[in-house]
Amino acid sequence: MSALLLVNVNQLLTIRAGSASRPRRGSELKDLGIIENGAVLCVGGKIVSVGTTKDALRDPWLKKNRKKVTEIDCTGKVVLPGFVDSHTHPVFVTPRLVDFEKRTDGASYEEIASAGGGIRSSVDSVRRAGKSELAGKVLATLHEMAAHGTTTAEAKSGYGLTVESEMKSLEAIREAASCWPGTVVATLLGAHVVPKEFEGRSQKYVETVCIEMIPRAAQRKLAQFVDVFCDHGAFTPQETEQIFEAAARHGISVRAHMGQLTETVLRPFLRFNPASFDHMDHVNEDDVAQLARHDTIATLVPGANYFLGLKDYPPARKLIDAGVPVALATDYNPGTSPTMSMPMAMSLACTQMKMLPAEAIVAATINGAWALRLADRKGSIEPGKDADLAVFVVDDYREIPYWFGVNRCDLTVIAGAVSKPGPVRL
Ligand code: NIG
Ligand code: FE
Repeated sequence: MSALLLVNVNQLLTIRAGSASRPRRGSELKDLGIIENGAVLCVGGKIVSVGTTKDALRDPWLKKNRKKVTEIDCTGKVVLPGFVDSHTHPVFVTPRLVDFEKRTDGASYEEIASAGGGIRSSVDSVRRAGKSELAGKVLATLHEMAAHGTTTAEAKSGYGLTVESEMKSLEAIREAASCWPGTVVATLLGAHVVPKEFEGRSQKYVETVCIEMIPRAAQRKLAQFVDVFCDHGAFTPQETEQIFEAAARHGISVRAHMGQLTETVLRPFLRFNPASFDHMDHVNEDDVAQLARHDTIATLVPGANYFLGLKDYPPARKLIDAGVPVALATDYNPGTSPTMSMPMAMSLACTQMKMLPAEAIVAATINGAWALRLADRKGSIEPGKDADLAVFVVDDYREIPYWFGVNRCDLTVIAGAVSKPGPVRL
């Protein structure tokens, strides 16, 4: 059985649980559970002990087995749980450079989308691509994520928009996941936009999602979640409820893109117990109060605001101060957020949304794990959890969001094994 010991860690951020087993909210978001000069022992892919280096080296089991244990000296480094990136769209073929250029010329996301750009412009190439080509793209992304400290990622379909190409996208996610040591959670986002062949017949397309896509994905266990882009130019609240109902009938949990462009009343959706509402740029006071009483996570993706050149960001302070559990994710996608760097999302969270560095770290780890319903295995460094860690070449955890535009991640440990990918071609 393989054993790995990280020692002399300058700051070990355990993010260990307080008493309640619920997503972190309010002041709990600041609690990093730091151990100075820390050590973590991982055996058989699991974390078995966490403490100071001094105590770890006194451990009788370790004394006896020291020769069999791979040791990594983490002097001058910070170790934290691998990031859980709970919102990404990696199944696409090409970057969307024309839209990018148009925006520098003043066009908005919605203007570009209604002129035929946006999500629909990624669809043709995904429909044409073979499954292995898509899987290769997803795998390259997963390696790049790991190079930036991510060890668990959600991955959505959503650029195929036919039954076949949505299933192909989910299969590509599964194929890529089988070649990556980290954990991948697949989400069916057949309801990303209404494809052009259904223009003016959105109800027909929603039926395709409900009657064909969801049952097939459920039957083949291709998706852990169903997602909907509920907004102007995408799906209405009524259509979203219809899709959530279909997901519930097939035993798949739900999540949704909400409030990115315009406000949607969230309260009626809470009966579906969504794992998360994502974006949340626009949210009303009553819904903030509702969310504070529920475990549905508000997943904030400031990379999208940054890349669209928006001046406003999601109201993180208001949400956190009201007691809403908040997570951070990259929203990696070709249209609004072509970054797979969680530290970049965290940097934006601090500079643009006024989250504290500690809050950004908790939001990027344990609350991301809650958003994927994986908090029993991921998101903190505690005995019994999966040995997924990120090692950063910094003395102080605040440097993780501080140094932006550079990668300070030294290596990741995934399922107890060291992973140090070099740069990859996307
Ligand atoms: O999360 N809002 C919907 N989906 C993506 C954008 C996808 C795209 O533009 O390709 C998002 O921002
Ligand atoms: Fe998204």
